[in-house]
Amino acid sequence: MIRKVVLPVAGLGTRMLPATKAVPKEMLCLINKPAIQYIVEEAVASGIKEFIFVVSRNKEAILDHFDLSPELEAELEAKGKKNLLEEVRKVSRLIESLSAVRQKKPLGLGHAILVAAPLVGNEPFGVLLGDDIVDAEEPCLKQLIRAAEELWAPVIAVEHLPREEVSRYGVISGKKVQEGLYEIEDVVEKPRPEEAPSELAIIGRYVFFPSIFEYLERLSPGAGGEIQLTDAIATMAREGHKIYALEFRGTRYDTGNKEGFVKATVALALKDPELGPKLRDFLRNLL
Ligand code: G1P
Repeated sequence: MIRKVVLPVAGLGTRMLPATKAVPKEMLCLINKPAIQYIVEEAVASGIKEFIFVVSRNKEAILDHFDLSPELEAELEAKGKKNLLEEVRKVSRLIESLSAVRQKKPLGLGHAILVAAPLVGNEPFGVLLGDDIVDAEEPCLKQLIRAAEELWAPVIAVEHLPREEVSRYGVISGKKVQEGLYEIEDVVEKPRPEEAPSELAIIGRYVFFPSIFEYLERLSPGAGGEIQLTDAIATMAREGHKIYALEFRGTRYDTGNKEGFVKATVALALKDPELGPKLRDFLRNLL
């Protein structure tokens, strides 16, 4: 049973400056929900009960968002704004157990996960990166959890992308086990398109077993002085420790850059029963 997730949210969000000068990038809004809420909702829909946020300074707004807001609730109640009150309460009820741990220096994604180790303890856990929002019938994390529980091994999500796009991601090579499932043999972080070992890019969803911590601890800082999660996955695979990649079913948006953020906003708004029809007409006229 996978009950816990780690959410590394300590990044600076430089690709979205100046919006992220004073507001954590995870709190940027798609329609009327901050990006991080979509991520948390996916985890909740995947059966997760315990959330471990890895934060840096100036990220308190993320934790506040999922906490109670007694003054706001009292105000909405007094004014009889029942729907809004319900909306606000729903957010604070999403997370049963929330803890946060500080990553004092930006030493990489691998380091962020290592910082969460004492809170994770000795059990398998999920990791969700805030930039990737996945729209899927079965939540993306749930797809990974099902596979990990069946294989009793770590599973990470990958997406088949055009070769010229894979340089923004970790790229796997592996042995096909069945349709959409690979046993990972190697991983390269952000390869040049011509050097990429495949067109299967890692997206920000992972299920790990506690063994990942031993691999992370052994790593010395890689590119940019950072401890790369990809290096730990690669070492695991090279040493013959089974780790799988699953091509998830669904649509992913990379909201960590301007183009992906706008695309996600438009796509989500078009799916919204209230906004969709109006927006469709508006976009048609505009084009
Ligand atoms: C990180 C990982 C990379 C992965 C990506 C998914 O990169 O290092 O392997 O493909 O997340 O979004 P980042 O986006 O932090 O540069």
